[in-house]
Amino acid sequence: MGKKQFLAGIDVGTTKICTTCAQSENGTTEILGTGLAPSRGLKKGVVVNLSETIDSVKVSLEEAERHSQTSIESAFVSIGGAFIRGINSSGETEVRSKNGEITNEDIRRAVRVATSADLNDDYQIIHTLTRDFSVDGHAGVVNPLGMNGKHLSVALHLVLNASAVVQNIVNAINKAGVLVSGVVMQQLASAEAVLSADEKELGTVLVDIGGGTTDLAFYNQGSIWHSEVIPAGGDLITKDIAFGIKAPLKEAEQLKCTVGSVFPESVPIEELIEVSEVGSGQLRTTSRRQLCQIIQARCDEILKAVAEAIQQVGVQKELIMGVVITGGGSLLDGIVDRAEQILGMPVRVGYPINLVSHQHSAFHPAYSTSLGLLKYTQDVRGQVVVDPEPHRGGMKNWLMERIG
Ligand SMILES: Nc1ncnc2c1ncn2[C@@H]1O[C@H](COP(=O)(O)OP(=O)(O)OP(=O)(O)O)[C@@H](O)[C@H]1O
Ligand SMILES: [Mg+2]
Repeated sequence: MGKKQFLAGIDVGTTKICTTCAQSENGTTEILGTGLAPSRGLKKGVVVNLSETIDSVKVSLEEAERHSQTSIESAFVSIGGAFIRGINSSGETEVRSKNGEITNEDIRRAVRVATSADLNDDYQIIHTLTRDFSVDGHAGVVNPLGMNGKHLSVALHLVLNASAVVQNIVNAINKAGVLVSGVVMQQLASAEAVLSADEKELGTVLVDIGGGTTDLAFYNQGSIWHSEVIPAGGDLITKDIAFGIKAPLKEAEQLKCTVGSVFPESVPIEELIEVSEVGSGQLRTTSRRQLCQIIQARCDEILKAVAEAIQQVGVQKELIMGVVITGGGSLLDGIVDRAEQILGMPVRVGYPINLVSHQHSAFHPAYSTSLGLLKYTQDVRGQVVVDPEPHRGGMKNWLMERIG
């Protein structure tokens, strides 16, 4: 019998705060409870009103604690926003031991070279992820420790975020009464919940379409290749609708989710929908096709930005498994077919699959990040071959310095 471990994850999204608690035993993660609260005080993943954010976190926490009948003392927290940057970097070193066996010290030295780039003081490394090791020019080495060779090189994916952005999220969680065990970039967490090991191995892009941002994570040969954030999401579509048909935001959101589609041409031209007038609340009718034209225009813009990102990374041919879209935006009617047209590759919607739950409502694409935090904590962190010395434990210390 393995040891039972209690886990908690808080996804601080632009439209909702989602807390999940789980119990992990013998490699199985069982969800015990979830808590969902509308997110206030955040814009595109960045805190703009601390007290509102704290209140939203508290509501979500209390609900998750009530459902799971547990008390959450510490949690892993998602981090996003338009300031996040993913960069690839590499480092090389000679193997120094006399018998030619690669030691932890050699690995650390190579990683140190790869992370020695001058960082702007306002930025902080939040992830140092290994893409690949090469020994004497032979790539594809998963863990070089103990192998024989003269020359070691490492390819890393570094994720940086503006220090103030991270600090404000951590402050909000702390002030809601919970310690932050670590922060995880949103799309890395989502990928853990929705992608299969085969998809990561054969080449896939995870596209998490949230309210504020669309977050991309590229995988190939089992490792992360690249990450990117497009500063547009489903909320922009809602705003376009509100503006275009002059409807209250709440109603625009509801229309998008219930009668919206990215294929206006499939809606009969004479079909009408009811909308209230902003201010007076008086009901009037408008064209459903027009609503869908507005949706299509913004959705196409987001998908074209995804296509451009894929093109810039230059990995179209390697993405054998295509694209997996998740997040609330992936539920927009017709988006899979439209994405296939624009991206020219297979697309599927990613529902959280890699966990066990008796609560079916949790298997929703908007929960991917929160549930993925629980998997990330167990799987990815455990696989890290070595942390670069200057940052080893640095995240916690860095956070503690600021939290006190
Ligand atoms: N059925 C649906 N049809 C269309 N859009 C939907 C549907 N359900 C949710 N959405 C949209 O998904 C978006 C919210 O997604 P999600 O909950 O993943 O965002 P978030 O995690 O809070 O935001 P972010 O990741 O940007 O910080 C909203 O714009 C919402 O309108
Ligand atoms: Mg999100």
